[in-house]
Amino acid sequence: MKVYRSEGAGFCFGVRRAIDLAFKVAGKYKGGVYTLGPLIHNPQVIEKLVETGVKPVDDLRGLAGKDVKAVIVRTHGITQQTMRKLIERQYEIIDATCPYVKKAQHYAKLLKEKGYQVLILGDSEHPEVKGLLSYAGRGAVCVKGSDDLPALKGKVGIVVQTTMTIGALKELVATTIENTKELDVYNTICSSTVVRLKETGDLAGKVDVMVIVGGRNSANTSQLAAHCRSLGVPTHHIETATELKQSWFSDATKAGISAGASTPDWLIDDVEKSIKALRRTRA
Ligand code: F3S
Repeated sequence: MKVYRSEGAGFCFGVRRAIDLAFKVAGKYKGGVYTLGPLIHNPQVIEKLVETGVKPVDDLRGLAGKDVKAVIVRTHGITQQTMRKLIERQYEIIDATCPYVKKAQHYAKLLKEKGYQVLILGDSEHPEVKGLLSYAGRGAVCVKGSDDLPALKGKVGIVVQTTMTIGALKELVATTIENTKELDVYNTICSSTVVRLKETGDLAGKVDVMVIVGGRNSANTSQLAAHCRSLGVPTHHIETATELKQSWFSDATKAGISAGASTPDWLIDDVEKSIKALRRTRA
């Protein structure tokens, strides 16, 4: 069996930047550094950060009574209200919000200021979307897709969660334009997500089985797995090599590996080596 790895698998620019910032501040303070929520959606990387003294807390209440040296803002960003509170409390803030997410926040605010009703295409439970809604103002609504459109009043603006697909955006735009006279759309989908999805889909089309590596809480990793399955390729989403099963590869001559934007190289390397070792065991 041959094993292929998708070219752009692993850390994207925004995650790499956040991890570098976190390790730098960890080295400076040696403890007392906190993130609001996990810095990125990968439990194994979070474990390593905790070992170096960077700990996640769920929200601002988690900082109460602690000797806080610095607070790192996660790649997905936080709400405007939370950012204001951090500033009021005079914490040292390390803003690791991905610049692409910042851009989406900027457009959401701009649309609000211009009097648009803002629609955020995304998952309402995702921290990035919660942040975007806070910038988009009171009338803003999160929509999952074109069949989730609220009652529209006046001019409408659309901003997109960075990990959504272009197909979902196209459908939403087509439905929205039928229900409003004025529509302003900011395509804030991250190009890294688009390229990764395309490369993963291309690889899936050439192999018998796909393994997608990354946090189960990672939106873009789950999206990669869903995309491969939609192409009819047997696909397994795992966090670490320990979850691999020999039976997944019993009829395969070619296996493909891809990984989400928050998956470190060492986890992908591990999976690649383990699949190759399974093959040897079988032989
Ligand atoms: Fe940023 Fe795109 Fe990564 S939004 S965090 S570069 S997936």
